[in-house]
Amino acid sequence: MRFNGETILITGGSGGMGETMARRFAGNGARVVVCDLGVEAVDRVVDSLAAEGHEALGVVADTTDEDSMAAAVTAAIERFGSLNGLVTAAGIRQTASGFLDIKLELWRKIQEVNVTGTFIAIRAAAPALIESTGAIVTVSSVTATAARMNQSAYCTSKAAVMHLTKQIALELSPHRVRVNALCPGVTATPMIDEAIRTDGPNLLKEKVEGSLEAFRPGIPLGRLALPEEQAAAAEFLLSADASFITGTALYVDGGVSMLG
Ligand SMILES: NC(=O)c1ccc[n+]([C@@H]2O[C@H](COP(=O)([O-])OP(=O)(O)OC[C@H]3O[C@@H](n4cnc5c(N)ncnc54)[C@H](O)[C@@H]3O)[C@@H](O)[C@H]2O)c1
Repeated sequence: MRFNGETILITGGSGGMGETMARRFAGNGARVVVCDLGVEAVDRVVDSLAAEGHEALGVVADTTDEDSMAAAVTAAIERFGSLNGLVTAAGIRQTASGFLDIKLELWRKIQEVNVTGTFIAIRAAAPALIESTGAIVTVSSVTATAARMNQSAYCTSKAAVMHLTKQIALELSPHRVRVNALCPGVTATPMIDEAIRTDGPNLLKEKVEGSLEAFRPGIPLGRLALPEEQAAAAEFLLSADASFITGTALYVDGGVSMLG
């Protein structure tokens, strides 16, 4: 019970990784605050956690909106009394498009959600985390440090998240609030299902359309990550076991990053 009685807020909390993290943290005694855009999905996660006897609060919140995130943090504190952890898992993908072709509107939207949304969520939660000497995990990507064809907006946004993580880790270090980035490789979530549906042949090295297995050849460990494996790493980074780790990135990518 690593998080007994602690409160952890997860943006993107009803998405593939976010929901899995909520379940894992709740299973370790945390009271979880599930933040996401859609009321039905948020309710589904919270109801099923409650049915298993866990304490969970659902908040419909948009990370790109300061008032919305401030309200989410306020709701968390009103319900549970404090905030001890934040995971910023909210993010959007890029439909494959070359940098010459991508619409500026889409470029801006990806930076807005992935970078500015992460910034806003952290800024909203920071005062409460300073008070509790809490911890933050951002969700970057293996693509933060390696280019991917037709993914300029997404990869740039994830590189920015990685650097933002270091900046904020430095500024929060006097308060002993730790901030680290999780860098997943391809992980079996709805985001990847959608990527394969919409632009499998553009995205994949081997054109096995419509199958997650198509990602396998580029991954040294020979398979996709499970959301549970990302959740386990996020749990470690949030926990006291990582008490001297801040401003760093943990790759959970089956070895992809070692290939450069
Ligand atoms: N799945 C992968 O292979 C992979 C790899 C590397 C990094 N990531 C990153 O991991 C994170 C989680 O991805 P996932 O695979 O679970 O995707 P997902 O699409 O299943 O979940 C993302 C969630 O974020 C929510 N969201 C989007 N914009 C939001 C906003 N403005 N405010 C609040 N919530 C918002 C969505 O509604 C969704 O529930 C993302 O940041 C993604 O970029 C995913």
